[in-house]
Amino acid sequence: MTEAQHFSLDGQHGIVTGGARGIGFAIAQRLIAAGASVTIADQDSDAVQQSVQDLGTAARGCVLDVTDEEQVTAMVQGAHGAHGRMDLLVCSAGIVGRNAFAWETSAEEWRRVLEVNLTGVWLCNRAALEPMRAANYGRIVNIASIAGKEGNPKLGPYSASKAGVIGMTKSLAKEVADTGIRIHSIAPAVIQTPMLSQVNQETIDYMVSKIPVGRTGTPQEVSALVHYLCSPECSFTTGSCHDISGGRATY
Ligand SMILES: NC(=O)c1ccc[n+]([C@@H]2O[C@H](COP(=O)([O-])OP(=O)(O)OC[C@H]3O[C@@H](n4cnc5c(N)ncnc54)[C@H](O)[C@@H]3O)[C@@H](O)[C@H]2O)c1
Repeated sequence: MTEAQHFSLDGQHGIVTGGARGIGFAIAQRLIAAGASVTIADQDSDAVQQSVQDLGTAARGCVLDVTDEEQVTAMVQGAHGAHGRMDLLVCSAGIVGRNAFAWETSAEEWRRVLEVNLTGVWLCNRAALEPMRAANYGRIVNIASIAGKEGNPKLGPYSASKAGVIGMTKSLAKEVADTGIRIHSIAPAVIQTPMLSQVNQETIDYMVSKIPVGRTGTPQEVSALVHYLCSPECSFTTGSCHDISGGRATY
């Protein structure tokens, strides 16, 4: 039995926002290896096209901005319409925002990070819950961050948005806990992806220095955890935030 045959997702369909690169792409690869088909939903149309080509026939693309309510509704309806089911949602789309002290940050910069990282996740969760509630089944995983638990200096809007994702996930999970739907967040520490190009070296060094395992994580390590959380076997846990931080946070 191969790794992917455990926690089989045979015949299931899922959406991965931010799936065109980084952690989202690795998750899409993993879900497909486990038997699912995946809608890659991302704002970068070239990257969507490339990733769908790389992932093969089990992948379809959807170009959208997760902050746009109508586009999010269309994304879920399109995935459900194309596959006749909507079992999985992984929200990986996110931005870091500018590295700056609070007193150097504009309200506009604050709002944009909150809009993408928190409101965008809420919009996608709310839309996906419609077909999931109708089917009495679903798995949702929201990618938060260690920054949402610990707070990283000069990443105030990012840290606040990720703390918001952790809290919102707990709330939503309890709203549907008496159904077949399970919702979790995860809190990765530094993971080697293109997102790191938005962060200065000083901040990366600070974050790695806090990790007892002494290195950055890989998108594949994150995708293994998400695979379990997306599986039918993940049935008696919901609402929790799962740590994947190399020991930086043990809660
Ligand atoms: N890389 C890390 O160290 C790290 C650590 C903790 C948490 N995270 C979180 O993991 C998630 C994925 O991070 P990553 O490192 O893979 O980032 P990435 O920058 O490599 O990929 C993010 C993807 O999200 C897409 N995206 C951004 N804004 C969007 C929008 N408004 N609508 C649709 N798509 C949008 C981008 O086009 C991109 O393809 C993010 O939520 C991030 O905050 C990352």
